[in-house]
Amino acid sequence: MRLLKDGEDYFLSYAEGVGPIDENRRRFLKGLVLGVSVAAVASAIPALKFFSAPSIGGASFPKMLLVNANGNAVEASGIQVNSEIITLFSYPLSNEINFLLNLGDASNTPVEIAPYTVSVPLTGASYSFPGGVGPHKSIVSYSAICQHLGCQPPELHFYPPARMKLGMPPPSQLTQAVLTMAQKDNIPACIYCACHGSMYDPYHGGSVARSPTQRPLPAVVLEWDPATDYLYAIDEVGVPVYGHSATLSGGTLLSGNATVKATSNPFPQ
Ligand code: FES
Repeated sequence: MRLLKDGEDYFLSYAEGVGPIDENRRRFLKGLVLGVSVAAVASAIPALKFFSAPSIGGASFPKMLLVNANGNAVEASGIQVNSEIITLFSYPLSNEINFLLNLGDASNTPVEIAPYTVSVPLTGASYSFPGGVGPHKSIVSYSAICQHLGCQPPELHFYPPARMKLGMPPPSQLTQAVLTMAQKDNIPACIYCACHGSMYDPYHGGSVARSPTQRPLPAVVLEWDPATDYLYAIDEVGVPVYGHSATLSGGTLLSGNATVKATSNPFPQ
C-alpha cells in the first residue's frame, strides 16, 4: 500500500468504509465537498493541500504538569479507575485534546498497561507505545480525536468494563456485533467512535480494534513523579493527530500547565 501525505489521507479515509452519518457530519462533509470545488477553481492550489492545517505549532514537545480546573496538580493516586467521567486535556497544541484514563479490570482494580508495538494498518508501519505510568502503571493518555474522520467526545467515548454490555443506559452505542468483537479480541474496555463505528484498544497503545479507522490513536507520553505523585505530559507517539500534517503543526503550542477538565457523567444511573 502506498504512503499518503498531508491532507491526502483524509480523503482516503472518507472514501474507505464511511457508514451512516448524522446531520453534523453530513454538514461537515458538504463543506468538504464545497472546499474541493473552490480549490479546483482556484487551480493554483492543489485541492488536497487546501485542507492541510496551517503550518504553525512548535519544534519540540513541551513538558507540562497536569493540573485540575483549580490549578492544583493532578495526583495519580487520585484518578478514579475506569472512571465514566471523561477527563480531557489539550497537549501539545491547543486544538489537540486527549483522554486521561486510569485503566482497570472488571472489578475496577488497576491493570498494568505494558509497553506495546502498535501497528498502523494504513501504512504497515509500527511504533512503540511506552506503557502506563503511575503507582500501578495503569494510567494512559490517548488523543480524543478519532483517526478516521476526526470525531471527538462525546461521539468518541471511553467505555469501561462495566459498560461493555448490551442494554446500558444512553449514551451507550455498543451493538452486539461490537461487543462480540471486543470479547473475541479480549478487549474488556474500549474507546469507541459512534460516528462510523471505529474501535480502539486502550490496553494496547490505542491500537485499531475495528475499522473503518486505519490509524491508531496517538498516545501522549506521560511521566510520573513517585515523590510527588504528579503527572507530566512530555511527548506524543504515533501517527500525526487527525487534521494535522504533524502533531506539532497546525495549532498553538502550549506551555506551562496542562489543565485536565472533567465532563459530566455521561451515563445516567
Ligand atoms: S470519525 Fe468515523 S469512526 Fe470516528
